[in-house]
Amino acid sequence: MGWGGGWAPEPLSPQGWRDAEDAAHQALRAALDAGISTLDTADIYGHGRSEQALGLLLAAEPGLRESLRIQTKCGIRLGGSPLYGSTGGTGTTRYDSSARHLRTAVAGSLERLHTDHVDTLIIHRPDVLTDPAETVGAFLELKAAGAVGHLGLSNMGLAWVRRFDDALREASAGTETLACVQLELGLHARTLIESVVLANHPEAPPSGDTEGIVEFCTARGIELQAWGPLGRGRYTRPDPEPADARAAAEVGRVAEELDVPADVVVLAWLMRLPWGIRPVVGTIRPGRIAASATADQAARRMDADQWYRIWTAARGEPLP
Ligand SMILES: NC(=O)c1ccc[n+]([C@@H]2O[C@H](COP(=O)([O-])OP(=O)(O)OC[C@H]3O[C@@H](n4cnc5c(N)ncnc54)[C@H](OP(=O)(O)O)[C@@H]3O)[C@@H](O)[C@H]2O)c1
Repeated sequence: MGWGGGWAPEPLSPQGWRDAEDAAHQALRAALDAGISTLDTADIYGHGRSEQALGLLLAAEPGLRESLRIQTKCGIRLGGSPLYGSTGGTGTTRYDSSARHLRTAVAGSLERLHTDHVDTLIIHRPDVLTDPAETVGAFLELKAAGAVGHLGLSNMGLAWVRRFDDALREASAGTETLACVQLELGLHARTLIESVVLANHPEAPPSGDTEGIVEFCTARGIELQAWGPLGRGRYTRPDPEPADARAAAEVGRVAEELDVPADVVVLAWLMRLPWGIRPVVGTIRPGRIAASATADQAARRMDADQWYRIWTAARGEPLP
């Protein structure tokens, strides 16, 4: 999401593009060197510039595409975004998972990415006006044409995930299932975790229809992906907000105990859950990218006491 020079709607200057391409190049090299080869982007990130930055790297290096798995998203129409040129945008941001929008969005993504296919297409947010069966039908058409490999979802509750997966299985005669569900999840975004662990207690937070989603995804072989897994640095920056200071200090203590960087502890805390969570790491800094690739090892070394100490500090009060 950080590729392509940020979220400003104005076009980048030639120097801005050189900087964006250089930053993406360095981030990609760090990722590949560390053994990370799955990239997550979306049509709307940087109003198309995130995909374009990756596309520039793919165009410049023949053979690179084969070593990557690319997942992109569609389904959010950003009000007034230059992504749609002078005609396509309206002032209102809305969700659109219609077959027509899917076809247009995927064609745009492939063009920006300089590739003929994406490995996974993720529906970014639920569009209540479109029946998942329509979206699934369009996905299967795009798949038959070789433009997309798998279907994933993002920011959806259990009811929608079930509807999509049922529709996909039915329309594909059982040959296809959802590849992934992406949710905001981490030390700062604990609703899913707390609604499971604090069940039968007045402190259990409303789950926002995510209750049971872990078990559902596990049973159907759907990967759970966590966006925002670093908490955007709130527990690891040098000057945490007062509300985060206790958790930041505990993260720092565990980092010393495990002899790893604090960013790694934040990721390891998430990966220590026995749910097979894949963090979608949003840093563009080569050092942080390289470190993040060691988080699964750190998770295996994090003991339960360390995990509970971090969680309790982030909650700000002891467990019941
Ligand atoms: N499905 C969805 O709706 C959705 C929504 C949002 C994001 N995503 C995906 O998930 C990815 C990750 O999400 P995210 O970027 O929001 O979250 P993240 O991985 O938690 O945070 C990354 C951001 O935090 C900054 N950061 C990390 N550690 C820091 C530190 N110690 N000090 C200062 N800044 C620090 C990074 O800056 P540096 O680059 O400088 O390290 C970067 O801007 C995105 O790139 C995107 O692919 C999906």
